[in-house]
Amino acid sequence: MLLPLLHLLLLLFFFFFSPSYSTTTTIGVNYGTVADNLPPPTTVATFLRSQTTINRIKIFDTNPDILRAFAGTGISITVTVGNGDIPNLSKLPAAQSWVSTNILPFHPKTAINRIAVGNEILATSDKDLIAHTVPAMKTLYQALTLANITNIQVSTPHSLGILTSSEPPSSGQFRPGYDKAIFAPMLDFLRQTKSPFLVNPYPFFGIDPNRPDSLNWALFEPNGGVLDSVTGFNYTNMFDAQMDAVFSAMKKLGYDDVDIAVAETGWPSAGEPGQPGVGLDNAASYNGNLIKHVNSGKGTPLMPNRTFETFVFSLFNENLKPTISEQNYGLFKPDLKPVYDVGLLTHQEAMGPTSDEAPGPTSSSGSVSGSGSKTWCVPKTNANEKALQANIDFACSSGIDCGPIKDGGPCFKPNTVRSHAAYAMNAYFQASGRHPSDCDFGNTGVIAYTDPSYDTCTYPYASSAAATSSAPEAAEGPAAGMKARKSDSGASVKLGVSILINHIISYFICILFCFLL
Ligand SMILES: *[C@@H]1O[C@H](CO)[C@@H](O)[C@H](O)[C@H]1NC(C)=O
Ligand SMILES: *[C@@H]1O[C@H](CO)[C@@H](O)[C@H](O)[C@H]1NC(C)=O
Ligand SMILES: *[C@@H]1O[C@H](CO)[C@@H](O)[C@H](O)[C@H]1NC(C)=O
Ligand SMILES: *[C@@H]1O[C@H](CO)[C@@H](O)[C@H](O)[C@H]1NC(C)=O
Repeated sequence: MLLPLLHLLLLLFFFFFSPSYSTTTTIGVNYGTVADNLPPPTTVATFLRSQTTINRIKIFDTNPDILRAFAGTGISITVTVGNGDIPNLSKLPAAQSWVSTNILPFHPKTAINRIAVGNEILATSDKDLIAHTVPAMKTLYQALTLANITNIQVSTPHSLGILTSSEPPSSGQFRPGYDKAIFAPMLDFLRQTKSPFLVNPYPFFGIDPNRPDSLNWALFEPNGGVLDSVTGFNYTNMFDAQMDAVFSAMKKLGYDDVDIAVAETGWPSAGEPGQPGVGLDNAASYNGNLIKHVNSGKGTPLMPNRTFETFVFSLFNENLKPTISEQNYGLFKPDLKPVYDVGLLTHQEAMGPTSDEAPGPTSSSGSVSGSGSKTWCVPKTNANEKALQANIDFACSSGIDCGPIKDGGPCFKPNTVRSHAAYAMNAYFQASGRHPSDCDFGNTGVIAYTDPSYDTCTYPYASSAAATSSAPEAAEGPAAGMKARKSDSGASVKLGVSILINHIISYFICILFCFLL
């Protein structure tokens, strides 16, 4: 308890008394709005402009109230196309109409400088969306050009689930099938239009409760490092390892010259009781160190001297998110008081540490003490049926046993898409090594800390899957998943093969779509 407190004090000391810090540091933030207690956009715009060094925001839609509120602030804005709009936007008239509705009324008074075409599309496993993403990016760009707009980039953010391999970083590789069918044309488009490849690295999801050093490695705090024996580089933080894994994947396709920007990263300041890694001091440490790191110009071992445009997730704590940890990614509370200080306020002397007002239960220790907590994966309350059906289709075609949710099976009743999806998503999550990113399902899954089993329906829980790791995770999802699969027996090989077959099928579907469009 004492050590982390000391850490926090040192951190705060550094931020308060480092004279050039607040004036030179800029950062972007994701302005998420899944809450019913946030101040109006005009208040937010005034606050950011007058009291912080935050100079760019990213929103998850094209909310006209927000776009109007930021007019004339000089704060640049990334807007997001809804995932469901992507197929239509691959047709030029629809793209032109979208630009007319969502861009032209606001730009350039509101400094919209980037369009994110969907969010983590690959993670949705929706083949129609995936196949239409690059075409929609190109068509939107064309629609902007036709409207004489040349200062808005078009890109799309990815979770690290796009990599099949990420550890060591030099082994980074895109998922087979998608590499040539999706990523090569996407990177080609980004190169031609001088736009960055957007990724959402979350070292928080990569911490391994069984290895005390992995928390410090994720937080940019002193640790023993992780050696990439291929390159000889000693990685002293997980962020660099994740970024270099992405870089390696791009390089293998011949696109190492395309810029990388961080569309989302963050750390929850509170979470479920006993949840590993969460807490005020850790969140302050991660985001504070991150901001210093990405602005330092140091780059990463494979990308020396680069700075990374970075958007912290998130501006506010969002009270309508489904879990306590998801509610507590914010740098600010709805009353505009900082949750903790990461040096982004222009009048720092006025602000004190606010840790005494920490909302919700926190894992107060600086170590991953809650390592015993079990996790399951269930649908988010706001996930729609179509997405949940897609999750069932995906999970059940990946090699897991979906017999229990078939007619006559112990989990068939209640016969609802939501109930069946909960079973299938959890089974997939368990089989993949129970890594948080394997419960993302295009932002429709959420980790549960209580066993969802009922009556005779028993949800699978793989007790050994996550314990096989021998080093801190270099990246989320796939690497951890693959490792668990490797250490398991025949069933996992079957899972791997089915996933491979899935990828091959998607590859051909993609080729088909690309020719049709
Ligand atoms: C896509 O376009 C079709 C035909 O113009 C329209 O009926 C449909 O509502 C559109 N879908 C979305 C999600 O906008
Ligand atoms: C775009 O610019 C060209 C050349 O300046 C002009 O002829 C055209 O009318 C403009 N188009 C729009 C939609 O403003
Ligand atoms: C990597 O760096 C860490 C931190 O500086 C150091 O403790 C560790 O010995 C280094 N490992 C190797 C293999 O050089
Ligand atoms: C990075 O910067 C350092 C110090 O300015 C310089 O010595 C080095 O050559 C640079 N490396 C690259 C790859 O540009």
